[in-house]
Amino acid sequence: MRILIVDDNPDSRIILRKTLESDGYTVIDASNGAEALKVARELLPDMIISDILMPVMDGFQLCRECKSDERLRDIPFIFYSAAYTDKKDEEFGLSMGAERFILKPMNPFCFLEIIENILKEYEKETVPRVNIAGGKDEGVFLREYNERLIMQLEKKVADLEESNKALSRSEGELKDLFESFVRTMVNALDAKSRWTRGHSERVAAYSEQIAAEIGLDGKEIKNLRLAALLHDIGKIGLRDYLLDKESPLTDEEFEAAKKHAVLGAEILEDIKQLKHITPSIRHHHERIDGKGYPDGLKGDEINLYARILHVADSFDSMTADRPYRRAPGVKYAVSEFRKHAGRQFEPRLVKAFLRVLSRKYHVTDIDKAVRSGGRKD
Ligand SMILES: [Fe+2]
Repeated sequence: MRILIVDDNPDSRIILRKTLESDGYTVIDASNGAEALKVARELLPDMIISDILMPVMDGFQLCRECKSDERLRDIPFIFYSAAYTDKKDEEFGLSMGAERFILKPMNPFCFLEIIENILKEYEKETVPRVNIAGGKDEGVFLREYNERLIMQLEKKVADLEESNKALSRSEGELKDLFESFVRTMVNALDAKSRWTRGHSERVAAYSEQIAAEIGLDGKEIKNLRLAALLHDIGKIGLRDYLLDKESPLTDEEFEAAKKHAVLGAEILEDIKQLKHITPSIRHHHERIDGKGYPDGLKGDEINLYARILHVADSFDSMTADRPYRRAPGVKYAVSEFRKHAGRQFEPRLVKAFLRVLSRKYHVTDIDKAVRSGGRKD
């Protein structure tokens, strides 16, 4: 006698299989109703024992399908489940034509007795069994059938692994493409003027140091680095002379140059992968006292990345030459940070950056510079 057991829980299938095999039954199994229906149509089992709650097709639906299939309707159908304990559920199951509704778990001896009695009843009532192996040995046929199923399963697993590998490859390629895009944007900005060359990369490095000092996690530092690399990208849209002018900008020219913050955010706003950093690009020139640009935001209204970028960006401006002046230098920058902490810069970030600089340069040199009132070195 071959019995089809249907259960989405592999452990339950193993227990049931062992119980039935110990009594001499041949067991075929399926992990959901849809799979069971396919197997039942192919192998015409002598009994179906099914769980109820399963993915794809549940036990009730499987019973309904079997009882409406001419070739399957006479196969005794047993519900074996722990999911439903209400009498109404049992009545519902039996009303579909199921023979029994057995609650899990049941003593194996009682269970086997019930199975045996039902099968005996059916043997009396039904026509002789069909040999599903076309007259050959059914044991051999079922073994081969199981082997075929296992091979199909192994092939599906191998195909899935291959698709996963292809997906990882595409993800890697997409990541490379994105990184190349950012690099190209930064290179384009660097190529625009020798005075902007390397600025983005340096601001990114300072921003990362501040972020690490205040304890941001790796993901945040990565996002901040991206924002820093692209923070001045709007300068691509400025006239070259504004970047290369060998004397300080006039008020009018300065107003034009200030537009790079908004322009940068606009250039990137359609790129979904950069949505989370465009506000920091727009606001990297805001001051915490509200006197910055473009929106005059104050304190916490300015997002953290933008506040960090402002410190890092200002440091690089004060330590890099401009076409119209030599770099004021590190000591000057430190004294400016101290002077403007709480007005232009967030004090917590200034302190963090000064700790970074103290480790990088000699603490005493910096302190001396600050004591001397921030004179240019
Ligand atoms: Fe800027």
